[in-house]
This record gives sequence, structure tokens and C-alpha cells, in this order.
Amino acid sequence: MKHEVVETNVGLMMILIVVALSFGTLVELVPLMFLKETNEPIAGLKPLPALELEGRDIYIREGCNVCHSQMIRPLRAETERYGHYSVAGEFVYDHPFLWGSKRTGPDLARVGQRYSDEWHRAHLYNPRDVVPESNMPAFPWLFEKELSGEMTGKKMTALRAVGVPYTDDDIAGAQAAVEGKKEIDALVAYLQQLGTLLQTRR
Ligand code: HEC
Repeated sequence: MKHEVVETNVGLMMILIVVALSFGTLVELVPLMFLKETNEPIAGLKPLPALELEGRDIYIREGCNVCHSQMIRPLRAETERYGHYSVAGEFVYDHPFLWGSKRTGPDLARVGQRYSDEWHRAHLYNPRDVVPESNMPAFPWLFEKELSGEMTGKKMTALRAVGVPYTDDDIAGAQAAVEGKKEIDALVAYLQQLGTLLQTRR
């Protein structure tokens, strides 16, 4: 019997399993790459301004995304806590995506404008000052280090190469927009715009 050949030959079975899984994956994934609603930015979406862009890089450097996801699932428990579920069109200009799935802390996809700048600064300086039971690490050095903005324009140019619509003016003005600001300013600016285009809660 032909099937017996497969069942008694582990190597062949492994190859066939990989072929079957790859086919299934392609069938699920490829159509998404051509679907309008997964590729088109939602109304009002703009590339991050210079300071927010630097803030995003600090967010990645400090590993914030290791404890915080940025993806609200379309389930009631999530939308009641965090607000509107995340949609693909919100992330069209994100490189790389920071969705994540591990939540040591709360999801931050819609944390923008939920707290004041002062709250974020106090919280990042020492989380225990505002949330006594918090086990989030403190990030006091963000208050000391200044940004030079030397690389900001180059980062925008690189992002433009992968489809983020930065203008020549954005790139030319990038360094001036960032130079001399503290890292904490950039990070808080980044946090304050997260998810604000699609807010239904509060
Ligand atoms: C080790 C895990 C961990 C890391 C790393 C971490 N956090 Fe947190 N974060 C938490 C936990 C736990 C909470 C919930 C307690 C609290 O509010 O402090 C939290 C809460 C928050 C909140 C409040 C969210 C809300 O809806 O109330 C913000 C904003 C936040 N973190 C931002 C950051 C930023 C920015 C960074 C990186 C600089 C960061 N976190 C790094 C664990 C972490």
C-alpha cells in the first residue's frame, strides 16, 4: 500500500509534513498581503514626527516591548479594559511591529492621552511612586541623556525606503526637532500618541 511507504519512512513523512504545513500557511498568509484593509493606513495616520520616532527607538532599546504588548484583541474583556481593538491599518508605518503577545504589564496600544505627561515622567522615574504595587523597573537615566538628533534624518530616510511617506522637509528638519531634548521627552511624546486615532473608551 502506498500509504504504508509514508508511515514507515520517518524522513519522507517529515518532508511531506513540511510541504503540507507550508501550503496551509501560504493559503492563509498570501491573500492578506494583497487585501486592501490590511495594507491601507487608517484615516488620519501619519508617520511619527522626529521626536516620537526617537521615542519609539528608546522604547525598543529599553525593552519596553518585552513586557508590554501593543495589540488589543477583538474580545470583550480586552476592549472593555483597553478600548477599540487594534486594526491592521494602524500599523502600516511601523517597522518593526511592536505587537508582542507577552504581557507582564498592561497593553499599551491605546495608552496615548490616558495619563498626563507628568504622570508618565513620575512613573518612568520610579513606578512605585505612582503605582505602589508595581514591579516595573525604573528608568531614571532617561532624564539625564540628551538627544543629538544626528541620526534622526537618516532613520527617516531608511523608513522612507520601505514605504513610510516622510517628506524632504520632515527629513531636513529632523535634527532641529530633536536636538537638545531629553530622552524622557521623546519617550513620553511617543507614548502619548499611541492608539489615539481610534479611541472609543474614555
Ligand atoms: C519587567 C517588565 C516591564 C518593563 C521592562 C516595562 N514595564 Fe511598564 N509596566 C509593567 C507593569 C507590571 C506595569 C503595571 C504596574 C504599573 O502601572 O507600574 C506597567 C505599567 C506601565 C504603564 C501604565 C499602563 C497603564 O495602562 O496603566 C506604562 C505607560 C508603562 N508601563 C510604560 C513602560 C515603558 C515606556 C517602558 C520602557 C521604558 C516599560 N513600561 C517597561 C512592566 C514593565
